[in-house]
Amino acid sequence: MQDWFDVAEKIETRTLAAAGKAGIDQAAFSAEARPADPRFGDVQVNGALPYAKRLKANPREIAQKIVDELAKDEAVTDVAELSIAGPGFINFRFKPSFYLDWLNDFSTESVYREAAAKLYAGERVVVDYGSPNTAKQMHVGHIRSIVIGEAICRLLEFCGADVTRDNHIGDWGTPYGKLFYAYKRHLDPDALKADPLGELERLYKLGSQLASDDKAVLEESRQELVQLQDGKPESMKLWETVNQLSIQGLKEVYDQLDVTYDCYLGESFYRDRVDLVYKELEECQLAEESNGALVVFHPEHKRYAEQPFIIRKSDGASNYATTDLATMLYRHEHFKATRIIIVTDDRQKDHFEQLDLTTAKWFEKTGRTRPAFDHVMFGKINGDDGKPIKSRSGDPIRLKDLISEAIERAHTVVKEKNSDLPEEELQLIAETVGISSIKYADLSSNRTSDYVFSWEKLLSFEGNTAPYLLYAATRIQSIFRKLDPSDLENLEARASVFETGEEIALARKIVEFVGALQITIDTLRPHMLSGYLYELAGAFSGFYAANKVIVEDDGQKARRLILCQRALLALKIGLSLLGIKTLERM
Ligand code: ARG
Repeated sequence: MQDWFDVAEKIETRTLAAAGKAGIDQAAFSAEARPADPRFGDVQVNGALPYAKRLKANPREIAQKIVDELAKDEAVTDVAELSIAGPGFINFRFKPSFYLDWLNDFSTESVYREAAAKLYAGERVVVDYGSPNTAKQMHVGHIRSIVIGEAICRLLEFCGADVTRDNHIGDWGTPYGKLFYAYKRHLDPDALKADPLGELERLYKLGSQLASDDKAVLEESRQELVQLQDGKPESMKLWETVNQLSIQGLKEVYDQLDVTYDCYLGESFYRDRVDLVYKELEECQLAEESNGALVVFHPEHKRYAEQPFIIRKSDGASNYATTDLATMLYRHEHFKATRIIIVTDDRQKDHFEQLDLTTAKWFEKTGRTRPAFDHVMFGKINGDDGKPIKSRSGDPIRLKDLISEAIERAHTVVKEKNSDLPEEELQLIAETVGISSIKYADLSSNRTSDYVFSWEKLLSFEGNTAPYLLYAATRIQSIFRKLDPSDLENLEARASVFETGEEIALARKIVEFVGALQITIDTLRPHMLSGYLYELAGAFSGFYAANKVIVEDDGQKARRLILCQRALLALKIGLSLLGIKTLERM
C-alpha cells in the first residue's frame, strides 16, 4: 500500500533517475519533493534551479530535459501529469484516477492506522501531562496541559507508539505543613465530603494566611512539615487521606474531559529515590557544593554556566529538580522509555532545559541510553482584555466551573439551532459540544502563543471551531441516513473517475490527511491537525454545495458517495485524535 509519503518518495527516485538519463550529475542534483502550489500541481521538485545556477545554465532547459525523460516513465505518467512552472519548477499533478485508487485503499480506520504505524512503531513514550499540584482546585490554566497532552498521546498511539500516560502530581513539599496545621484545627467535615478539593484548598489558603500573620503558626506548620518528611506514621496517614481525596477530585474532572491516566507517579513517589541522584551526580563530578547547596553548572551554556541547576537545597532538602532527575531515571529503567514528553507552561522552560542537559551528561557518564526528551510548552489563556482570565471575584476560574458553564452555554446554542430535539438528547449533545468547544479552542491555537478565550468565538458555528466541525460531520451522516442500503453496495466497483473541480479538490484534501498527521506529530503541535480538519470541512462544503450526490448516473453517485464516506472517516479520525467525540446529529 502506498501513502502520500511513499508517493513523494517514488517521485524523488524517479526524478533522480530521469535526471541521470538526461545527463545531469545526480550527486549535485536534489530531487527533493515538496507539496506544490495547488494552482500548478500536487508535488513539486525544485532541484533544477540550484543545479543550473551552479553551472550558469538555463534552469528551464534543465527542467525540460528531466521532464522529457520523466514523460517516458510509465510509473510516473500512470499517476501524474507533468509541467514546468516559472523559472524551472517541475510540477506533478496527480490524475483523478490516482485519487480514486488512493481513496479506494484508504477506506477504513485500520488502513490509516497501518500506514501511520510506520512512523512510531517500537517507540515507548511516557507522556507527563496534566500534573497539577494536589490539595488544590484545578483552574482554567490547567486545561492546556491536559488537552494538549491527551491529543499528543492519542496521536502517538495512532502512529504505533506504546504510550504511558503519567500524571506527575505535585503531592509533596512545603504546602503540606500549612495545610496540615489548618486541617487539624479548622476542618469542616461536611464540606470535605461535598467538595474535597474545594475544602482542601480553603484549608491551605487559611493555613498560609495564618502562618503569614503569626510567627508561632509558621513554626508549627514547619514542625508539621518536618514530621511528614521524617515519615511519622500519623503525618503519613493524614497525607495519605489528603492525597486520596485530591486524586478523587481530580478524576472527576478528568472523566468529564475523557482522560484516563495509567499512573499517578507524583513527586512523593520519588522521595526515596533522590539519594541515588546525589550520589551518582557527585561521583561523576557533575554536581558540586555551592553555598551549602548541591548544584550542577553547564559551563558550555551561555546562561547555565552562571545560573546553576540546584539539586539539593542548603537546608539539605530535595526539590523539584531532584525529583525530576529521579523521574528521568525511573522512566528509563522501569518504563524503558525511548522518549519522554513533559507538557507544562512556558515558565518552566529553563528548568527543563537544565534537566535535559544534566540528564544527558549523567546518562552518558553512567553508560545509559538517554531517551529522547521534549518539553512541550504552551502560553497563557487570556481574557478579552489581554490579561490572564479571572472569575468575577478576581480568583482564577475553576476548571470545574468552566466546564459547567461551557455545557450550559452549548445547551442554549444547540437549542437555538435545533429546537425540536428531546430534552434528554439535547443535554447529551450540549455536553459533547460544550466540552469539545473548550478543548478545541485550545487545540486550534498554536500552543506556544497565548490565546484569547472568548465564549462567542469558541461556540460559534462559523470558523475553525468545534461546533463547525461537529456540524460538518453530522451533515455528512445525514446524507447516509437518507440512502437505500443498495446505494452503498460495491461503491468502489461502481465509481467512475472524478471529474469536477470540487470533487478533485476534496479528494486531494482527503489524501493530505496522512501528511497533516505527520507534521502534527513531528512538531507536537495539535493546531496543525485542527487547521487541516477545518480545511477538509471547507473542501467538503464546497463540494456539497456544487455537486449533487444522489444523481441518476450510477458511476457519478458512487464516486461522490466515496468522497462523502472518506471525508467523514478522516474527519472522525482526526477529531478523535484531538480527543473530540463526534455526534450523529445536533
Ligand atoms: N506540578 C507541576 C506544576 O504544577 C508540573 C509537573 C510537570 N512534570 C514534571 N515532571 N515536572 O507546575
